[in-house]
Amino acid sequence: MNLETKKDVATVEFQGKTYTTDLLVGSEGEVGLDMRDFRNQTGAICLDPGFGNTGSCTSAITFLDGEKGLIRHRGYKLQDLADNCNYLEVAYLLMLGELPTPYQYRQFLGKIHENNFLGPSLQELLNHYPTQSHPMAVLASVVLSLTGFYSDLGVDKFYELDLDVVRLLTKTPLIAAHNYRRKRGMKYIPPDNNLGYAENFLYSMFGRSVSPERRKIMAKALEKLLIIHADHEQNCSTSTVRVISSSNANVYAAVGGGIGALWGPLHGGANEAVINMLEYINMQGGDLEAVIKRAKDKNDEFRLMGFGHRVYKTYDPRAHIAKKVVDELLEDLGVEEPLVDIAMKLEKIAIEDDYFVSRNLYPNVDFYTGTAYKAMGIPKEMFTVLFAMGRMAGWLAHLLEFRADESRRISRPRQIYTGVTARDFVPMTER
Ligand code: CMC
Repeated sequence: MNLETKKDVATVEFQGKTYTTDLLVGSEGEVGLDMRDFRNQTGAICLDPGFGNTGSCTSAITFLDGEKGLIRHRGYKLQDLADNCNYLEVAYLLMLGELPTPYQYRQFLGKIHENNFLGPSLQELLNHYPTQSHPMAVLASVVLSLTGFYSDLGVDKFYELDLDVVRLLTKTPLIAAHNYRRKRGMKYIPPDNNLGYAENFLYSMFGRSVSPERRKIMAKALEKLLIIHADHEQNCSTSTVRVISSSNANVYAAVGGGIGALWGPLHGGANEAVINMLEYINMQGGDLEAVIKRAKDKNDEFRLMGFGHRVYKTYDPRAHIAKKVVDELLEDLGVEEPLVDIAMKLEKIAIEDDYFVSRNLYPNVDFYTGTAYKAMGIPKEMFTVLFAMGRMAGWLAHLLEFRADESRRISRPRQIYTGVTARDFVPMTER
């Protein structure tokens, strides 16, 4: 681990006491104060709602520089990975630390292929969901249910972790595709191991209704989109996976919780919300100023979806890649998507508007991805499922890293109590 500890370099003066602590320096020069013993020594806690200023762990998976708009996985630039790798290679890199050699890749792919099926009882389970269920609800709960298929009584089997990882990578797209087809009264299509990861998903979803030529074009774009979603260090859903894992809950419980966290519109659910917003603008005749005005109005809960980020204070580098993927996809498919024009105009107005400039609000990864999915004919209620498919690699990488971390403890934040102080109990008859 590349963590430098500078002993006793920072002091905090507090109620006449001095708390002296170490400075921790990461491999990219990021610094943090070790506050683990702060409460023991001073009696005070650090209050940080939303954890904007709290480091929950050290991690060697992904480095972000929010000021410069940089993202690197295990040292490799995201752009290089998106240009040169497929999703499974990136998943391997995130989880195991190195890009696979040809031999390692063949071994990994072999395991993926062996587990690339939905058993009859899993299909039966999927057949019982109400057809109107949101695909994220189905995905989260079926992933959690995998505990029942693969773990003893919900108690984790650490020794099967490798297999659990492969199962999650293979079952997730199949669960999503099964659900898509069943909702439309169509039969499940088993995957074809001659196809790549993204192409197999498209095949399981659309079957022969999409020609192999078109499917290849879509798969090329989808592999890149899965890669740009693959990891983003301690985001809300990844932190959720780590928090759930910290109680030694099993892998499926942890990832099921992560899917739930991702679903929210402030996180992965933003891709669906962006398309709803763009469609609304289109329906209203393209009144962009009205939307910008609403987003700036403090009395209105509406936010410009696909804009802003906790870490990035500049353009999200993933949004650049996503926009390029959209442009190439539309050209290769020979289709036009009017929502892309609306999105570009909206972006132009927002990034020149003082409200957004002064708050460093720029397009994030979700601003353009939905337009790509829409061009592929994927229904918008499935957009966040595609985010989950990509992020699966990151969740699993963090879970593996967390399990191997000797300093791990159960996640258990504190609070400052603001409720009623002690009072006498009053029997119901006297209330
Ligand atoms: N539209 C309008 N105002 C915004 C927006 C937005 N999209 N985002 C932030 N602001 C304002 C916010 O009102 C606040 O203003 P003020 O300082 O006057 O109170 C200021 O900017 C700072 O916002 P914040 O809520 O403190 O920032 P945060 O770091 O807590 O939230 C965010 C980050 C992503 C939740 C937020 O920017 C947002 O709600 N964006 C829209 C939803 C979205 O696109 N989410 C996808 C994020 S990227 C995918 C992923 O999750 O990885």
